[in-house]
Amino acid sequence: MLTEYQLRMPKHIIAGEHALEKLAEIINSDVKKIVLFTDKGILATGLVDLPKTIIEKAGIDYTIISDIPAEPSYHEAQSMVDLFKKEQADFIIAIGGGSVMDVAKLSSILATDEYQVKDLLENPLLAKKQVNSLMIPTTAGTGAEATPNSIVGVPEKDLKIGIVNPEMIADYVILDSRMIKNLPKPIAAATGVDALCHAIECFTSTKANPISNTFALEALDLIMNNIIEACTDPQALKAKSDMLLGSFYAGVAITASGTTAVHALSYPLGGKYHIAHGVSNAMLLTPVMKFNEPAIKELLAAAYDRVIKGGNQSLSIAEKSAHMINQLEKIVTVLEIPTSLKTFNVPSEDLDGLVAAGMEVTRLLVNNKREVTPEDAKKIYLEIL
Ligand SMILES: NC(=O)c1ccc[n+]([C@@H]2O[C@H](COP(=O)([O-])OP(=O)(O)OC[C@H]3O[C@@H](n4cnc5c(N)ncnc54)[C@H](O)[C@@H]3O)[C@@H](O)[C@H]2O)c1
Ligand SMILES: [Zn+2]
Repeated sequence: MLTEYQLRMPKHIIAGEHALEKLAEIINSDVKKIVLFTDKGILATGLVDLPKTIIEKAGIDYTIISDIPAEPSYHEAQSMVDLFKKEQADFIIAIGGGSVMDVAKLSSILATDEYQVKDLLENPLLAKKQVNSLMIPTTAGTGAEATPNSIVGVPEKDLKIGIVNPEMIADYVILDSRMIKNLPKPIAAATGVDALCHAIECFTSTKANPISNTFALEALDLIMNNIIEACTDPQALKAKSDMLLGSFYAGVAITASGTTAVHALSYPLGGKYHIAHGVSNAMLLTPVMKFNEPAIKELLAAAYDRVIKGGNQSLSIAEKSAHMINQLEKIVTVLEIPTSLKTFNVPSEDLDGLVAAGMEVTRLLVNNKREVTPEDAKKIYLEIL
């Protein structure tokens, strides 16, 4: 049998101690004008200071665009792209979480007036890469530094939509654990569980294949065995660095495979109630894994064998699978991520609307090994309502 796989990822990845200092080598003499995307929260932490100094030392002109809101709508993303276009930059640096990186990635293919973000909602492949980009994630994380995706809110549909275009894949990535060292615990926890979802969903997706599994399993191993320490101990730099690598690998797994019903049913929660992406995924993780279990038991057992340190290999497949789901649930509980929509005042009358919006995310629902009917989606949402 002949099988063809396509592995798409950034060409150049710099990771580890003092990785950030390598910025000086990336922005060589060809670069004339840089736009540095970030947001106000990150600016306030001082995380942009070192990169700024390096750019200034290199004598390269730059502008900082920092008005990016968390989880932007496509209108908000377009206004950032419009600011970017005025600068006529020939290099993009994004320092931030998924929100910042997603806007930067859209800018890299929308530098001329030919297309708008709105056009890409209908036909994501229209635009081609115009400006090279470097992603420096400050959360671990969305894996947006690895993927061809940019996720924007679509208020008219009460949904978030993923624009997927390989032209948006970053050219350079810097993974430096200093960027996530002082992440506030609630953000570290929610973004970490997002990465965890990417790994386990991609591994249990209908699109999973040997290439994506290599990245998904390594990501799962790194994330499950480091997430609690990384989120709760500010000094745990090794755990944080492993989380950053794990979330990057999980991003590569998304590109080669795809997320499933956790992310699909999560999009309306972000789109309508603006629940943070990682939090809405965390809420749905256990209910969806329990729903999927009949179809993915063997896979969960294989994941157990790979990631549970000192696990009992003589357990049955059903026992290993149950243990994996318990561990996933435990992570969400220990990290104190809200698991009920009541926390966000979602009224029970909204249930049917949620189901209708969730069922629209066919791009990801088709990846789910067990078919999700509207009745199933309703039961899953009811568990967290
Ligand atoms: N493109 C992709 O492949 C992909 C994948 C998953 C999710 N996403 C999208 O990414 C967005 C979420 O990104 P996110 O979870 O990284 O969060 P985010 O970028 O929305 O940031 C959340 C908050 O954390 C703050 N923050 C970020 N880094 C910080 C740091 N080091 N210290 C202190 N504060 C910091 C920000 O200022 C912001 O207020 C959503 O829109 C989601 O849909 C994209
Ligand atoms: Zn995600």
